[in-house]
Amino acid sequence: MELDIGHVNQYLTKQEYRIYADNHEDALKLVDQNGFPSPLLGWVHTEKWAGEDLKNQIQELASEIRERAEVFVVVGLGGSNQGARAVIDALTPQDVKGGGPEILYAALNLSASYYQSLLQRIGDRSVYINVIAKNFKTVEPGLTFRMLRRYMESRYSKKEAARRIITTPTVGDKELHRVSEENGFRYLPFPDDVGGRYSVFTPVGLLPAAVAGVNINMLLAGAKAVEEDYLSGGPLREMAKSYAITRNALLEKGYGIEVLAFFEPQLESFGRWWRQLFGESEGKKYTGLFPALCSYTEDLHSVGQYMQQGKRQVIETFIHVKKAPANLTIDSETSSTDGFDYLDGKTFHAINECAYEATVMAHSEGGIPCMILEIEELDAFHVGKLLYFYFIVCYYSAVILGVDPFDQPGVENYKTEMFRLLGLYED
Ligand code: PA5
Repeated sequence: MELDIGHVNQYLTKQEYRIYADNHEDALKLVDQNGFPSPLLGWVHTEKWAGEDLKNQIQELASEIRERAEVFVVVGLGGSNQGARAVIDALTPQDVKGGGPEILYAALNLSASYYQSLLQRIGDRSVYINVIAKNFKTVEPGLTFRMLRRYMESRYSKKEAARRIITTPTVGDKELHRVSEENGFRYLPFPDDVGGRYSVFTPVGLLPAAVAGVNINMLLAGAKAVEEDYLSGGPLREMAKSYAITRNALLEKGYGIEVLAFFEPQLESFGRWWRQLFGESEGKKYTGLFPALCSYTEDLHSVGQYMQQGKRQVIETFIHVKKAPANLTIDSETSSTDGFDYLDGKTFHAINECAYEATVMAHSEGGIPCMILEIEELDAFHVGKLLYFYFIVCYYSAVILGVDPFDQPGVENYKTEMFRLLGLYED
């Protein structure tokens, strides 16, 4: 993994960078020493929630589900599903074992038509569900689970329905845990010391990923490589630090938006995961870069115009995948000329690479501070590295900003209003 921030120099001088870093030395040291005061640092040591015993349990459950289910519905919202989706979509189809069930996601919204079509998509296929919730107070998973439970019990005997419902609750006094115990649902723990958006390397992300055919050992090996580097003060830690410093120094200079851009559409769910990670971790105390996504080349033909000539308030990080996820070569057009002969014999990847290089050049020259994060390939190991690396960047970045990277107090505001409208509270 490499980070190239060379294109930023014309917008942030080396001296400005140094001054910003010096001014935030204490915050950086706090993260270096893993010393930010929070009960939610359980993700740092991946083995804590993905040790041999838990991994075996996950693998066993996943094998049963892969054998018996045609559809696997992941019921979870925010951090309770984004990690799994990011991994599964980034690795499909090139680095997943085929033959597993179709993965569907529920609890993403409250739209009746979405749920109607979800049930239609399940049809009469063999189905298992995984309900994931840290607090189980959020309406979306609560409501969806209630509906799907009824549905399961209408299709299977009570015993068989219970076998097909796997939950991932916080173990203790939370409702989902109690409901699971009472009804005989099998469950895996949602770690009490890991927040949703940091939970991909725990049963929260690992069970759905394993069901989808992801090699979770390789995924965890990638994460572990960055974890070890971070804990021992290696080069990736320095890279994460300079990334966090650069982003926030640019924020201080007046840039307000960071776009994460990629040229492989398989990274769209990863982009949504990144957006949640940074949006919920940093957007507090009226500070932080607004995280936005661009999937190129498609978005070059929409917001690409804004990127090039709109208000100069955007910085951009390109995720560059070095090795082509697939090989496809353009044949020569023999019968008649279509004006594209100059592409004859070239691979899609080579052309995509040209589009990427051209975009970095055009945007850098057009007033956008551009950074490039290069990963070797879209396989489980490198995706594991990428996700853990962003945990560290986000951790540094939020602490530099002076906000708690692990809470999301603002998210509660709409919930309180909604609960009031729904009559949960008495006036
Ligand atoms: O990252 C977070 O902690 C949040 O986004 C939560 O994951 C999200 O709010 C869902 O919470 P819960 O699983 O408790 O319903």
